[in-house]
Amino acid sequence: LITDVRLRRILDSRGNPTVEADVVTESGGFGRAAAPSGASTGEYEAIERPPTEAIAAAREHAVPRLIGEAYAGNQREVDAILRAADGTDDFSEIGANSAVAISMAAAKAGADVLGAPLFQHLGGAFRGDNFPIPLGNVVGGGEHAADATDIQEFLAAPIGAPSVGDAVFANAAVHAAVSDLLTERDVPCGKGDEGAWAPSIDDGEAFELVDEAVSLVEDEVGFEISFGLDVAGAELYDAGSGTYEYSDTSRTTDEQIEYIADLVREYDLAYVEDPLDENDYEAFADLTDEVGDRTLVCGDDLFVTNTDRLADGIDVGAANSILIKPNQIGTLTDAFDAIELATAHGYDSVVSHRSGETEDATIAHLAVATDVPFIKTGAVGGERTAKLNELIRIADDAT
Ligand code: PGA
Ligand code: ZN
Repeated sequence: LITDVRLRRILDSRGNPTVEADVVTESGGFGRAAAPSGASTGEYEAIERPPTEAIAAAREHAVPRLIGEAYAGNQREVDAILRAADGTDDFSEIGANSAVAISMAAAKAGADVLGAPLFQHLGGAFRGDNFPIPLGNVVGGGEHAADATDIQEFLAAPIGAPSVGDAVFANAAVHAAVSDLLTERDVPCGKGDEGAWAPSIDDGEAFELVDEAVSLVEDEVGFEISFGLDVAGAELYDAGSGTYEYSDTSRTTDEQIEYIADLVREYDLAYVEDPLDENDYEAFADLTDEVGDRTLVCGDDLFVTNTDRLADGIDVGAANSILIKPNQIGTLTDAFDAIELATAHGYDSVVSHRSGETEDATIAHLAVATDVPFIKTGAVGGERTAKLNELIRIADDAT
């Protein structure tokens, strides 16, 4: 039984305040978790409130309903109480940041009570024994870095890696190889919010660079490494003109579909996230028709981890995979439901970090528990390696 829920403000990786929750149980269980935060957030995400307000509202509405009432190990009950206490569809009362921090902290407390690792508690005894392949952000721009690429993320995808550890190290090697190639070309370069290199080059150069870096590392490690993109299309789309606005050009929706399809073919991309605007299910469906048999077309801002939006996408064949960010929807239960609905309709799920992160490693456990094929959680940087190193530890414990 939950006997205490404590909430506080801590720092995230961008230096902004975020919500951390501690959940304590009668039998001595303890769980601590923190909410991440997006920069290129989807229009339909649950609402993140300023941490001070989110904490005050959660203390008033949610905490009294949890203490002495809910078992930390009963995730659905905890999350239902959070929803009822909030009373809105989008967590605009207690904030999705308070909600997700409490939801994840309760899961950890529940695991602690059982003496089980979190992935085991969440995944259960009949969990599969696959491990997610990490997608590692190696070059990026968009809303994550000024004066860099238009496409938000170029992601190394070590699809042939024999183990999760090999995949993690391969992504770091691609990240390092990109740096070497930039140095060779005398391109000065800082990093974006997720630790990816943020050079002031155009997208065409970035494709050449990442393609070369991936090939170099592939030769070194001897297994297949592909790459992928998060286009963050909603950030490029101008609803007024109905066009995708790049630094050097503008594309109509049809042109955008063809541009992305050509890139998939030319670079044999394993993954394309949010290639189109978050409101354009039809364009997503057209692109999926064209290249969905050879690449993962993934909806992030399109689906926002929301089962209603995913169901709409499934109806029209928009995308063939969904990005899962617990803070987009507010609870672990909602994230699980989205993964379950996706799986039932042949959609893959990709568990993901946010651009603003903490040391919290819950998503590593969530990805293993739910047996998803990919996890997107950066390549380097402490808040990213917190998850990557946790994956390595889980694999070590589980095998
Ligand atoms: P965000 O970006 O966390 O800033 O929303 C990540 C993504 O778009 O996948
Ligand atoms: Zn995205």
